[in-house]
Amino acid sequence: MRDVAIVAAGMTKFGELWESSLRDLFVEAASEALANAHADHVDSIIVGNMSAGQFVGQEHLGPLLADHLGMAGTPAMRVESACASGGVALRTAFLEVASGASDLVLAAGVEKMNDGGDVTAILATAADQENEVYHGITFPGLYAMIARAHMGAHGTTEEDLSAVAVKNHHHGALNPRAQFHREVTLQEVMTSSMVAAPLRMLHCSPVSDGAAAVLVCPLDQAKRYTDRPVRIRASASATAPMALADRKDPAFLDAVALSAKRAYQMAGVGPGDVQVVEVHDCFTIAEICCIEALGLVECGKGRDAARSGLTALGGTVPVNTSGGLKSKGHPVGATGIAQAIEIFEQLRGESGPRQVPNAHLGLAQNMGGSGASSVVHILERV
Ligand code: COA
Repeated sequence: MRDVAIVAAGMTKFGELWESSLRDLFVEAASEALANAHADHVDSIIVGNMSAGQFVGQEHLGPLLADHLGMAGTPAMRVESACASGGVALRTAFLEVASGASDLVLAAGVEKMNDGGDVTAILATAADQENEVYHGITFPGLYAMIARAHMGAHGTTEEDLSAVAVKNHHHGALNPRAQFHREVTLQEVMTSSMVAAPLRMLHCSPVSDGAAAVLVCPLDQAKRYTDRPVRIRASASATAPMALADRKDPAFLDAVALSAKRAYQMAGVGPGDVQVVEVHDCFTIAEICCIEALGLVECGKGRDAARSGLTALGGTVPVNTSGGLKSKGHPVGATGIAQAIEIFEQLRGESGPRQVPNAHLGLAQNMGGSGASSVVHILERV
C-alpha cells in the first residue's frame, strides 16, 4: 500500500442554506478544494451522501455532480453508510490511492436536509426497520435510550449531557463555518424543549445543509499540490448490530471501539498519542460514549470530561474543536469529511482562535445511525 495524504480542503458554511441546491453546495466545496491545490482535474470522485433520494428526490449523484463540477467523463460514485457516509467516502478515496488505482481523488460529502420531506422519518430509515422503526422509534428516541442506559450503568446525569452542549457551542462560536455562533449556558440547555426524555433540543444536533471536500493523493506526490500535506496514518471501519436490543451493552459503542482499535493498530499509536479529536456528537450522549469507546477516557468516565474541561479547548485532549455536530451542524452525508477537515486544518495550524497548540496527530471518528457503523481516521502533520 502507498502512503496517502490529504493536500487540500474546501467546505461550505453549514446551516439552513435556502439559496443553494445540493449540486450548488457540492460544487462550492469541491471547487474550493481544487483551487487550493491548483488542480483542474482528478482521477476519481467519491461522494458521501446519506439520502438525497428522499431529501431532494435525486439519486445517481456520481455523474450528476461530476458534470456540474465540469468533470463529466471522470469516474464518480456515491457511497452510503447513513451519517458515516462522509467517513466512508474518505476511506474509499484512501483505499483507491493506497492501492495505486488512482493518483488524485476528490472525496466529498453533501446533504441538503431542509428542502422538504419528513426529516425525522427519513433519518429513521438508517435504524432497524423491522425491530425499531416499525414500533415508532426515532433517532432522538434511540439516543435517549442510550443515554438512559449510560445513566443507569455509570450515574451519568442531565448536567453531564448538558455540559457537552455548552462546550461544543463555545467551540462553534469560534468557527465561522458553524451553523450556530452562540454560546449556551447549562441552564439554557437543561430547560430547552424536551425532544425524547432525557434529551432536550440543545442536546441534539440540528437539521443542516452543507458540503465538504478534500483532495487525496500519494504522500510522495503531495508537494505538487501543497507545502503542508497531512498524512492519513490510518483508515479503519467496523460494524455492530443495528438494533439496540441486539447489543451486549447499549451504553457502549462496539463499532466505535473496534474501528478505533483497528486504526490505532494501523497507525502504531494509542489514544494517548492524539492531541485533537473530532467525534460524532449527533446527540451529546454520543460524545460521552464515543470518547469512552475511543479509549480517550476510561469506560464510565466520559460523563465528567466536558465538565472538567478535559475535552475543551485548552484541555488535555480537545474534542470537537469545530463545534462538533451539535454546533457546527450535521448535514449527515457531509459530516465525516468536515470532521477530517477540522483535523487537517488543526494539524496545519490554520484554526485561528480554535487552534490547539503543537498538534501533530489527530483523530476523526464518524458514526452511522445509532452506532451500527463507524469509521476512524488518524491524521498526522508531516
Ligand atoms: N440545537 C440548537 N438550536 C436548534 C436546534 C438544535 N439542535 N434545532 C433547532 N434549533 C433552533 C433553530 O435554529 C431555531 O432558532 P431560531 O428561532 O432562532 O431561528 C429554533 O431552534 C427552532 O427551530 P426549529 O427548526 O423549529 O426546531 P424543531 O423543533 O423543528 O427541531 C430538533 C428541533 C431538535 C427536533 C431538530 O433539530 C432535530 O430533529 N435534530 C436531530 C437531528 C437528527 O436526528 N440527526 C441525525 C442524528 S443520528
